[in-house]
Amino acid sequence: MNVVVIGAQWGDEGKGKMVDYLATDAQIIVRFSGGANAGHTIVRGGEQFALHLIPSGVLYPDKTVVLGTGMAIDPEAMFAELDMLAQRGIDWKGRVLVSDRAHIVLPRYRDIDKAMEASRKNPIGTTGRGIGVTYSMKSSRDGVRLADLFDPDRLVNLEPEDRSYIERWRDKLAPMAIDLVDYLSKHRHAYVLFEGAQGTLLDLDTGTYPFVSSGMSCAAGAAAQGGIGPRSMDKVLGVFKAYSTRVGNGPFPTEFDNDSQSELCQFVRDTGREYGVTTGRPRRCGYLDLVALRYACLTNSIDSLVLTHLDVYDTLDSFEACVAYKVRGKLIEYFPSSVRDLEDAEPVLRTFTGWKKSLKETKDYDHLPQKAQDYISFIEEYTETAIDIVSVGYDRAETIVRKSPWIRY
Ligand code: IMP
Repeated sequence: MNVVVIGAQWGDEGKGKMVDYLATDAQIIVRFSGGANAGHTIVRGGEQFALHLIPSGVLYPDKTVVLGTGMAIDPEAMFAELDMLAQRGIDWKGRVLVSDRAHIVLPRYRDIDKAMEASRKNPIGTTGRGIGVTYSMKSSRDGVRLADLFDPDRLVNLEPEDRSYIERWRDKLAPMAIDLVDYLSKHRHAYVLFEGAQGTLLDLDTGTYPFVSSGMSCAAGAAAQGGIGPRSMDKVLGVFKAYSTRVGNGPFPTEFDNDSQSELCQFVRDTGREYGVTTGRPRRCGYLDLVALRYACLTNSIDSLVLTHLDVYDTLDSFEACVAYKVRGKLIEYFPSSVRDLEDAEPVLRTFTGWKKSLKETKDYDHLPQKAQDYISFIEEYTETAIDIVSVGYDRAETIVRKSPWIRY
């Protein structure tokens, strides 16, 4: 069975925790896109792990994790992360695999990334990890794939500096390299969890272009870049927060106003720990954007939604969510492709009453306060998509499951 988990906003929705949680029932976890630009925080029995390249499932001693075809693999960053895991007692050898179709980030790509960003009139706010450059090289057919490491004919085309860099990693990468399509076809009866990076609004095609990352963060990526065909996805889960955040530049219609909502913004940022795992940057914060969430459901065929960070609103008397935009006087209910329209979009907000109660200990959906249930029901009706899992804290235990994605109903 193949379950796909993607971010339904601009990344940082809490996918790391959810993948870690859902991985309990999976045998294989495949991350299909992104690279060291991403950051996942997982809390295990009070211990915190920050992962960037390695799929979250690695913390389970019995799971195999795969870095998929759509990933941009920075060997230096990957082995530093694996060393950190080994030092903390995680035995990863033999169960961290890498698709040999994945592309490699060369050190000079990071420099080019930073130089390109510095020369942009409208900077994107990239993480500087060379991700966009790796995908550009891939598209222009000048990239280096893992498979090339073992093909002397490909290596002769490389600049001596690039060649000696990747040759440094060849012996360490060799035992990890697999043909992902073949591997998954041999494990077709396994429970496989496909983990997307970033979120659909940062996807190159479905996102707020050009203020996006360069990989496939949408569910389709699980097929094209995760080693299966599109009809083999049994379920697609979209993870979103009770509010919205965004890192880097680009349109964000529901962003809190710097002057009139600065206190609320700081409250959400601090309570939700909204600081980048990769860059430490404070995240931009705002109310939930239902127009964008419905768009995410449509472009990704999301079967069910996973709501996280609901507990961040525990102490608020009231809060709002965006149900439409007003763009230069015109009311619209769809998510526009034009950056200008998104920048001009004034959110039409609906007010919700807060529940004023800690949700941390809640284990059942029926035990959630009525006001919290009202918020959830409204989102479900608006997006025409069920919310099957609700997260009310960082720990695995702080999760309410209404319907497991691993059960075929
Ligand atoms: P890049 O992926 O480094 O090229 O950055 C492009 C944009 O995507 C920037 O706005 C980044 O802040 C954003 N971005 C990249 N990875 C993540 C992530 O994991 N979470 C949130 N934003 C991200």
